[in-house]
Amino acid sequence: MQFKRVFQVFRNLTLLSVLAWLWAPAGFPAPTPSLPHLEKRGEVTQLLVDGQPYLMLAGELHNSSSSSVRYMEPVWPRLAAAHLNTVLAPVAWETIEPEENRFDFSNLDGLLAGARNSHLHLVILWFGAWKNTFSTYVPAWVKTDTARFARVQTHDGRNTERLSPFSSVVREADARAFAQLMRHLREVDAAAHTVLMVQVENEVGVIPESRDHSAAAEAAFSAPVPTALLGFMRQHRFGLDPQFRSAWEDGGAKSAGSWQDLFGHTPLTDDLFMAWQYATFVEQVAAAGKAQYALPMYANAALIRPNYQPGQYNSGGPLPHSMDIWRAGAPSLDFLSPDLYFNEFAQWAASYARPGNPLFIPEAQGGVPGAANALYAYGHLAAIGFSAFGIDDQDNTPLDLAGITNPAEHPDGAALGDAYAIVSKLAPLILEQQRTGGVEGALLEGPAQRSARIVLGEYTATLTPATSSAAAGRISALFIRTAPAEFLVVGSGDGQVSFSTDSTGPSIVAIQSIDEEFFDNGTWRAGRRLNGDESSQGQALRIQSKDLAQGRIYKVRLYRYR
Ligand code: DGJ
Repeated sequence: MQFKRVFQVFRNLTLLSVLAWLWAPAGFPAPTPSLPHLEKRGEVTQLLVDGQPYLMLAGELHNSSSSSVRYMEPVWPRLAAAHLNTVLAPVAWETIEPEENRFDFSNLDGLLAGARNSHLHLVILWFGAWKNTFSTYVPAWVKTDTARFARVQTHDGRNTERLSPFSSVVREADARAFAQLMRHLREVDAAAHTVLMVQVENEVGVIPESRDHSAAAEAAFSAPVPTALLGFMRQHRFGLDPQFRSAWEDGGAKSAGSWQDLFGHTPLTDDLFMAWQYATFVEQVAAAGKAQYALPMYANAALIRPNYQPGQYNSGGPLPHSMDIWRAGAPSLDFLSPDLYFNEFAQWAASYARPGNPLFIPEAQGGVPGAANALYAYGHLAAIGFSAFGIDDQDNTPLDLAGITNPAEHPDGAALGDAYAIVSKLAPLILEQQRTGGVEGALLEGPAQRSARIVLGEYTATLTPATSSAAAGRISALFIRTAPAEFLVVGSGDGQVSFSTDSTGPSIVAIQSIDEEFFDNGTWRAGRRLNGDESSQGQALRIQSKDLAQGRIYKVRLYRYR
């Protein structure tokens, strides 16, 4: 019965969104006054767009794609056809302020029009003072004036191609430009809500040394740790990141002193010092933007490769061990995000899905691994969005444009779009069921991992590889509870799912039925009943790598007996 009710809500929601889509004159439904915002709903934090929870099925453009409206013209419809609903698009400082105090938003307006025409939302990436630690996207009048706009310096006094976060001149110029950008967005997009969120800067941090040695940086390094940070640390001591807390407590949990007094004479101290500086810089930029137009904002991190030290990785970026510093220093940011290309997806993603920090993954692998990871992120970690990098060449069709596309790099590029196609149909149900813990995800990251268990209500689902092959790839399954003993399951890869229970009552769990469900042209269509060889005579749900491309969703009913 309950399944019926949930399914009806789902059908109605889907029907409503389809109708709204058809009736919308210029792409989106009639505007509502509320801005896109994050809201705690039941057990999770969700992104609300025009009053409705929204799941971002996203991709990030290559760095240079959005610099040309013309280049983007054929790309937008392709991304929409690949079932994305959101595109992450850079907007560079040099593009909007080519001369000091002369702003030009024609490129941005062209991007908005292109996205709207293809019914796509945008997340704007502000390539301001930094992009991947460097300052390559700043206007020429900033880049060439090294006297006015100070650079990060090495220990022997050499300038680098990175603006210094210790320069108030840089900070104010960046904040002014960003405020103009947000003001313009308010003027042209406050009704349509094409833009959902904004990323402030891109992968900040300092390389190749662990900290800035400019004169201002040296002075700050030997000055006392700011009281604002110390107050935050004392107040949140028992909830601090364990590595950060140890760095402080190993030195006696001092309540005053220099950075090295508090955290020791280690490269990690340099990283924490830089984290505070980047965070407070980004805070001023984000706050100036929010004062104009208060969209959700976040900062993204380049993660740490095994055994890399601060300076080999972006020292000062919003990494797990410095998230507390970022939260204290940049309260205008709504969350911090990982750019997650590593195979250890589950571990890194979990380190960002913390209380008060909803998970959004702006950059990740696409293709087959992306599909598996996305299902897991939406299912297990209640991600508000997942986004694969370089999305403008994620499918099999070569982009006949600037020659930057190499389809050979993405032979399985369609897999993420296939996953998005299914998830977009299930999104209303996922978002509804997330509120009461009715959505889960399991992930196997390679042959070394033999099983993954998740608990949904009174049932435990165990995902294992379908074969014992050492070549078994990434396998995942997304579970949506539709009734106490009924689930919709979407799978990626070749695996199987068995069910058990740890709760009181009859201890044996068996499969009552497995049905295929498809969603074609706006309506549900039942497929085969799979109670024979296809489910090992009802012993396990079998998921197959072809399921995503074929749009297959499984409806599994369980029962218990003694
Ligand atoms: C991470 C950066 O944030 C992106 O802008 C891009 O440079 C990718 N790396 C390339 O892999």
